[in-house]
Amino acid sequence: MAPKGSQLQRDMKISDAFFEMEISKLNINVSQMFNKINMSLADFTLELSQLKTNVSQLSIKVAMLEKQDVELKKELADLRNKFLVTNREIRSILADLMTEISKLKKGGNYTEPPGAAPGQEWDHVAPYDIQILQVPEEDEDCSSGHGPIKCQCPAQWKRFRQSCYYFSSVRKSGAEAGRSCATNDAYLVVINGAEEQMFIRISAQNTRYWIGLNDTTSEGDWCWADGTDYSSNLKFWRTGEPNNQNDEDCVVMEDTGEWNDEPCHTQQYWICEKSAQPLP
Ligand code: BGC
Ligand code: CA
Repeated sequence: MAPKGSQLQRDMKISDAFFEMEISKLNINVSQMFNKINMSLADFTLELSQLKTNVSQLSIKVAMLEKQDVELKKELADLRNKFLVTNREIRSILADLMTEISKLKKGGNYTEPPGAAPGQEWDHVAPYDIQILQVPEEDEDCSSGHGPIKCQCPAQWKRFRQSCYYFSSVRKSGAEAGRSCATNDAYLVVINGAEEQMFIRISAQNTRYWIGLNDTTSEGDWCWADGTDYSSNLKFWRTGEPNNQNDEDCVVMEDTGEWNDEPCHTQQYWICEKSAQPLP
């Protein structure tokens, strides 16, 4: 029979070997885990540095876009100004052309081409004035010296330069139309030049309106509603007008924009005019 002690020694040796194996297994696991952690950390560091690069590239792009935005805004403002200046120039050339046509007609030097419809001479300028008058009216200073104070018009009235205009939506006789304007501190529209003529023609949108011209007091002596001198003022009569065909002492602007005398008792739409006011 073997001594008890040696059995115990054998058993202890076995368990020692077992523990050593377990510890070495654990060591391997721990070192594998450390390896993994180190690898993830490296990945993470790389990603972080890429993110930093991206952010700095984006910041540069944002700064460039902001700069472009400022430059484009400036370019836009310049273009807008140029457009307004050109528009003003074209408007004044058109006005000169209209003035010229009006003078030729008055001097009898203008003959319509054979078969031309009345008013066709205006067809040369008509397509352009509509376009240029789409541009919003520039602000006008209505202060008398201590300005600028913007010119303003009541609701329902349109402003052009320093005047306000009302286009009626019902028809009345010439006299009633004039009284209706007077009730509103206004008078039937007085056309003082080609630009105003242009503005009225376009705003009238092919509707016939009474204007503030009549020869009710004395046949052939034309008078403007506000006392403006008739002979020195521009005229936009249709060829052959005024003809007093049926005792015609009042004047309409036809759809072509030209003027024609009509009997005052006929019912027409009308246009009132009054000065714009310096309202804050
Ligand atoms: C109008 C007149 C105009 C004539 C021209 C008539 O219908 O009442 O005012 O002069 O047409 O043809
Ligand atoms: Ca007539």
